[in-house]
Amino acid sequence: MNYFKRPTPLKRAKLWLSLALPLVALIWIAAHFAMHDSRVYSSGRLSNPHAVFETQCAACHVEKAGAYSAKAENSACLACHDGPIHHAEQTRMPNCAECHVEHRGKINLSAASNQSCAQCHSELRTNGGAAHFSANISSLENGHPEFRAAATNHDPGTIKLNHKLHMQPIRSAPGGPSVQLECFDCHRPPGVTKPWIYADGKYLGITASYTDKDQFLTASSSSLKARNPATGRELMAPVKFATACAGCHLLTFDKRFDDGVPHDKPEVVHTFLMKKFGAYIATHSNELHEMQDPSRDLSGKLLQPRMRTLSAPQWVAEKVAVAEELLSHKTCAQCHQMTKQNLPDTSIARWSPANVAAGTVTSIANLAAGGNSAGMIGAVAPANITLRWLPHSRFDHDAHTGFTCVSCHAKALTSTESSELLIPGIATCRTCHAPGPNHAESRCFECHTYHDWSQRKEVKPAFRLPALHTGGE
Ligand code: HEC
Ligand code: HEC
Ligand code: HEC
Ligand code: HEC
Ligand code: HEC
Ligand code: HEC
Ligand code: HEC
Ligand code: HEC
Ligand code: HEC
Ligand code: HEC
Repeated sequence: MNYFKRPTPLKRAKLWLSLALPLVALIWIAAHFAMHDSRVYSSGRLSNPHAVFETQCAACHVEKAGAYSAKAENSACLACHDGPIHHAEQTRMPNCAECHVEHRGKINLSAASNQSCAQCHSELRTNGGAAHFSANISSLENGHPEFRAAATNHDPGTIKLNHKLHMQPIRSAPGGPSVQLECFDCHRPPGVTKPWIYADGKYLGITASYTDKDQFLTASSSSLKARNPATGRELMAPVKFATACAGCHLLTFDKRFDDGVPHDKPEVVHTFLMKKFGAYIATHSNELHEMQDPSRDLSGKLLQPRMRTLSAPQWVAEKVAVAEELLSHKTCAQCHQMTKQNLPDTSIARWSPANVAAGTVTSIANLAAGGNSAGMIGAVAPANITLRWLPHSRFDHDAHTGFTCVSCHAKALTSTESSELLIPGIATCRTCHAPGPNHAESRCFECHTYHDWSQRKEVKPAFRLPALHTGGE
């Protein structure tokens, strides 16, 4: 009846195994203990940036009264690098480990879950009373508001540009061949250096008297500052006349000269014109005596040829007034919003019969003596080009180079007024940034900074890599 107690080869093997395996495990642990390697207690591999601390548990699990803390201490993290606060108005300080999850292998340490942000943002409260931002955001799909720029749907810029017209085949010069412009011909990130096709060398590299600062709005000062320095490829540089328009839109002002006026403030243009015509008449004094081309009156009768003689200052004043009238009414006003200026009567220069009388010369003399040093071109409105439309998030054109411009800016092909907004709204982002495979990342960290890196403190880590301890300094 005891046959089942008799050892069989199989049973013997089982017995030995049950004794041997724990023994092997004990020896393995003892060996690691002897070598001060604590990885055996660990719940998983550390992330790449921390992999060098794999054997240094105490770097994060601070040793207190001989025992290691089960939690990673914030103070331990902060001893090696700063993690500045998020917002002065936040009601509590979450632990670092709530968002930066460790022991999950080689994952992106900054890939905080939606929940780690939604713990506050799904019911946002602040120290200072009501929140300034949408208060019920759980995820990009759930509760995230439309972007402020898209909700406002207005571009405050004053440079007139008909995108639709310029995106169709268009003449590159009066009477010149038609060309197909590309977005890239006018819009580039500052970090890209390639020659501009529609630039005009005469305007490149010239410092204008107006300042860049008041041309465009910059980022809101209250937005979180990213940690990494900008690459110069995230956002597009403001469009410049010299690089993007001058090749086709000439600022010519008089048939005597091939070159155009400087692209600058009206007073600079005025000074330029005064000088230019002044130098010209000094060497062409014969032009002070003008004879009108023979012409006919309304009945077809040939008129007597008429003559007049001007002094050099009168001649210059007249020509400058005519040129400024053209620039102000046509050339500059094509692209700019300008304040209306009461222009002097330049009909004198057109030989209108009423003005050919003796009084004419006096009126030109008045013009010359008038001391209108600022000239007659109306003041040009500040360009107000917006450089950053979404200051409370990150955006990077460079991360989207695989997509055509119009996949996000479809309206750029149909817009005829500058006041129309071409920046995409949240619906466009959601077509690609969505949960699940085959989609781009949609958790908050992809588009937002968490730490306010402008508050960053430099930390001098006391820690040295184990390998360096043997260095014997
Ligand atoms: C770079 C910092 C860091 C180092 C180094 C580190 N850990 Fe952790 N560990 C963490 C964080 C963060 C947690 C999450 C705990 C929390 O919620 O505070 C954690 C949690 C744990 C847990 C609890 C189980 C879990 O997954 O939540 C154990 C066990 C653990 N660590 C063991 C170790 C051992 C053993 C070592 C050394 C081999 C080690 N850790 C090294 C950061 C670290
Ligand atoms: C012993 C020093 C040390 C400790 C302790 C430490 N770190 Fe780090 N940490 C580093 C080093 C070194 C890097 C890699 C270089 C860098 O990015 O500054 C790094 C990188 C990081 C990064 C950037 C990861 C990336 O994708 O580039 C995060 C986030 C981070 N640590 C969070 C933490 C948190 C949270 C803790 C506490 C649980 C912690 N660290 C504890 C030294 C440390
Ligand atoms: C609510 C979530 C959250 C908490 C809490 C948090 N972080 Fe972060 N941390 C992030 C996110 C998201 C990023 C990436 C975006 C950024 O740079 O702000 C980040 C970035 C970092 C980086 C830089 C990573 C890089 O890109 O190089 C460091 C270092 C860091 N955190 C350390 C800490 C430390 C230390 C603490 C605790 C004092 C902490 N964090 C608390 C979410 C969090
Ligand atoms: C501890 C609570 C808390 C957590 C966690 C938190 N936030 Fe906030 N967040 C706030 C508060 C408070 C404000 C400021 C609200 C105000 O001024 O009205 C804020 C403001 C913001 C803003 C507004 C824009 C700006 O530039 O200032 C953004 C974007 C934001 N948080 C993103 C995040 C992201 C992304 C995470 C997760 C990585 C996160 N927050 C986690 C409390 C939190
Ligand atoms: C695909 C990118 C993307 C993702 C993912 C995303 N956001 Fe946003 N978020 C934006 C943009 C763009 C804005 C507009 C910023 C602006 O108007 O300056 C914005 C605005 C905000 C604002 C300010 C809202 C306001 O009232 O103006 C908060 C707060 C915010 N996001 C929090 C979050 C949180 C929390 C998550 C994750 C649950 C998240 N976002 C995920 C892109 C994103
Ligand atoms: C083909 C379009 C075009 C024409 C024509 C044009 N401009 Fe401009 N102008 C621009 C653009 C684009 C800018 C924006 C920034 C830049 O180029 O510096 C600008 C900017 C300016 C500014 C600076 C505005 C600010 O933000 O303070 C002044 C001043 C100016 N132009 C004067 C003139 C004058 C005077 C004329 C006529 C002689 C003229 N422009 C003709 C396109 C034009
Ligand atoms: C390839 C040559 C070319 C370039 C480059 C170019 N334009 Fe033009 N633009 C034209 C031509 C040609 C017309 C006249 C079309 C017509 O009237 O049919 C025109 C017309 C315009 C008009 C009048 C549009 C209307 O609706 O009547 C404005 C304003 C204008 N351009 C602004 C600009 C600005 C600002 C730039 C630089 C950012 C620029 N253009 C660059 C060729 C160009
Ligand atoms: C994935 C969507 C997407 C694509 C593709 C894209 N853009 Fe944008 N673009 C945006 C967003 C979002 C903004 C607003 C960013 C900001 O200012 O915060 C923007 C802003 C701009 C601006 C205004 C200035 C600025 O940078 O804020 C210009 C000009 C522009 N884009 C031109 C282009 C051109 C040219 C291309 C093709 C080379 C292009 N975009 C491709 C989404 C896109
Ligand atoms: C001839 C030069 C020119 C070309 C070509 C051009 N743009 Fe523009 N773009 C401008 C000028 C000038 C402005 C500033 C006036 C304004 O705000 O509309 C501007 C403004 C913008 C803005 C930001 C302002 C807003 O209202 O949203 C976006 C985005 C933009 N362009 C996208 C595009 C895209 C995409 C293409 C190609 C399909 C393109 N542009 C082609 C000259 C050009
Ligand atoms: C046509 C698809 C597509 C659209 C539309 C799109 N994205 Fe993306 N986006 C991507 C891809 C692909 C990446 C890079 C891969 C990744 O991070 O998952 C990316 C990356 C990003 C990044 C990370 C950049 C970095 O430095 O790592 C941000 C921020 C971002 N997108 C914001 C936006 C915003 C805001 C919008 C809407 C205005 C938008 N995207 C629309 C496909 C898209």
